[in-house]
Amino acid sequence: MAKKLLGDPINRVDGALKATGRARYSGDIKRPGMLHGVLVMSTVANGKITAIDTAATLKLPGVVNVMTHLNAPKLAGIDKNKASEIATDRVLQLFQDDLVHYNNQPIAMVLADTLEQATEGASLVRVTYQIQPVKQPLPTGKADLATPKQLPRIDDQVDTKRGDLAAGLGAATQRIEATYTTPTMNHNALEPHALLAFWEGDKLTMYNATQGISGCQKRVAELFGMPKENVRVITQFLGGGFGSKGTTFSHVLLTPMAAKLVGKPVRLVLKREQMFGMVGNRSATEQTLTLATGNDGKLLATAHHSLVQTSDFDDFAEPAGTITRMLYACSNLDTTHKFIRANIGTPTPMRAPGEAPGVFALESAIDEMAAQLKMDPLAFRLANYAEKDPNKDKPFSSKSLRECYRQGAERFGWSKRPAEPRSLKNGHYLRGMGMGTTVYPMNRAESSALVRLKPDGTLQVETGTQDLGTGTFTIMTQIAAEVFGVSPDQVTLSAGDSIYPASSVSGGSRCTSSTGSAVEQAAREVLKKTKQLAFKDSKSPLFNVAEADIVAEKGGRLQQKSNPKIGESITNLLKRNGNNPVEATVQSKQGDEKEKYSMNAFGAVFAEVEVDELLGEVRVTRLLGSFAAGRIVNLKTARSQVLGGMVWAVSMALHEKTAFDMRTNRVMNANLAEYHVPVNADIREIDGFFIEEADDIVNPAGVKGIGEIGVVGTVAAIANAIYHATGHRFRDLPITVDKVL
Ligand code: MOS
Repeated sequence: MAKKLLGDPINRVDGALKATGRARYSGDIKRPGMLHGVLVMSTVANGKITAIDTAATLKLPGVVNVMTHLNAPKLAGIDKNKASEIATDRVLQLFQDDLVHYNNQPIAMVLADTLEQATEGASLVRVTYQIQPVKQPLPTGKADLATPKQLPRIDDQVDTKRGDLAAGLGAATQRIEATYTTPTMNHNALEPHALLAFWEGDKLTMYNATQGISGCQKRVAELFGMPKENVRVITQFLGGGFGSKGTTFSHVLLTPMAAKLVGKPVRLVLKREQMFGMVGNRSATEQTLTLATGNDGKLLATAHHSLVQTSDFDDFAEPAGTITRMLYACSNLDTTHKFIRANIGTPTPMRAPGEAPGVFALESAIDEMAAQLKMDPLAFRLANYAEKDPNKDKPFSSKSLRECYRQGAERFGWSKRPAEPRSLKNGHYLRGMGMGTTVYPMNRAESSALVRLKPDGTLQVETGTQDLGTGTFTIMTQIAAEVFGVSPDQVTLSAGDSIYPASSVSGGSRCTSSTGSAVEQAAREVLKKTKQLAFKDSKSPLFNVAEADIVAEKGGRLQQKSNPKIGESITNLLKRNGNNPVEATVQSKQGDEKEKYSMNAFGAVFAEVEVDELLGEVRVTRLLGSFAAGRIVNLKTARSQVLGGMVWAVSMALHEKTAFDMRTNRVMNANLAEYHVPVNADIREIDGFFIEEADDIVNPAGVKGIGEIGVVGTVAAIANAIYHATGHRFRDLPITVDKVL
């Protein structure tokens, strides 16, 4: 069957379980004899623990032990606890020494029969420190700039130069230069990080809220210095992660260490406040953009200099400048990344790491340049459309951005936007329209899957993937079903457990491109074997029909392509051939496609805002995104994904900011009352739709990934709409009431 480019919007396979509360998340899992762990966190940002007094805690009823650096099991693989080339590996705080590197760092774990006892016990632990001076995060602490050794995607250069920037600037007649800042942000998935760990002899089992079962299994095994096979990781359901569950952070090691120490299963659920420090954050950025053009609006020079921050012990560098290298045609271009070191927890990927803050700056600068040129912002972008990737100097595997612009602008009513800012006034409300280009690279990692065709014609898929809540478990059944022309309810999926074939992290928008491709390839392999059965079976109507001339059609029927009347059901064929299942396991990875092509999803986002001139309040009244991301497996879950990304952009543009007390680097708003994210009332009209895009080059599943593209260009679209409403540029996020007034 020909594959659908926009797949059926079927409901989630686990929808009923979730809606009725029967889904068991990692923090819900129980085990007989289980103890509850509660972490004690540091209250200083830099220094050394000189004493930990646990006497009062140990006297409490129900308290079994307190794990600290003094009694924690030593880790055989501790030499692996260092900055690594893998984007998802961080240096962890594992109670192997007395050092404190950031405020809110885990330093002890109280273990008790009940959560209440452990919580009370944790409050009674007294810690004495020798305190060192604090290295502050941005915007201060800029004395020691350093160049990162690498960016998280190691094929991305840290700094790039193309053409001759000075010559481009010299030839230009128009120029803008502006600095944009974005604050530190923290991931706030609804489900906190949580796990249950227990040992059976030297075998460890963990029910862990992770975006990457396989990566977690590998990292835990390597730090314990034990074979991977002895670690089993199970993640049945996830309530979000946004990158912070993609990395195996300290608590994932500390919990099995505690289980070992007390010889009992241990469950740990992080408190909301504990999620502001030890489980990653999005780096603050300061980005300076220079754009220069001729009077015709063609870009002659682009420079993008990014300053970001990392911890004082690890090297994650937010890759803010990477998209600027490829989004527009411009022959003279410089990009650089520098970071400062601060006493904070190490930053980590957060939904569109690099792209989200970076494209906010780029697409804001593009809007500023268009305004200076008195060009329509969309016309300016089209004048600088990149027909091939100017960074890699390679053709795109596919690029439907023009179509995104066209259909998005038409549906949004972009042509009604007056050129002059401040011209849509309604009483004390100023209305404005803005747009942004959005883009996200196609990432793909190694993934495996098993597909089994059973004699009753149903399919079984096994793969060690996890579902962030995005619909992964559902679309894997759709991918397998489509190969065979059966309905997705004929497919059972076994996943969420490291006993199944190893799969990629659900991060960097790569789950469907990676694991979906593995499922697609395994299903095709099984279909091929099934066709071969028919070819060899003299009783089959398809006897001696070449494999290439057999297709699977609706209802699980194999038939001759050149003569559709000739054929039979798969069940009949299997029945005659011993009633045995047909199966295949495929380990799927990228070939050399990336050497030949640049592969990216693109989109265009249009925003309308209303700014209350008296109160300084900004409302995003309309958001519309058009996206081209290859094949869309399920229109319902995909639309939800891009809408979620767009809501995230409202959050980044108007609400989110981690506020540090700069004397102690303590986060002052480590709760959902003061760390603002949008609520229902903040989201008005919002929609996202997909352009049909066939891409046979990207990967066997034909998908480009949609987890992050919703946020990328949307932040600038909102900021640009605020400029159009008010006539003022707001270059520092979030754009809050105090700045607007
Ligand atoms: Mo995402 S930040 O790659 O989970």
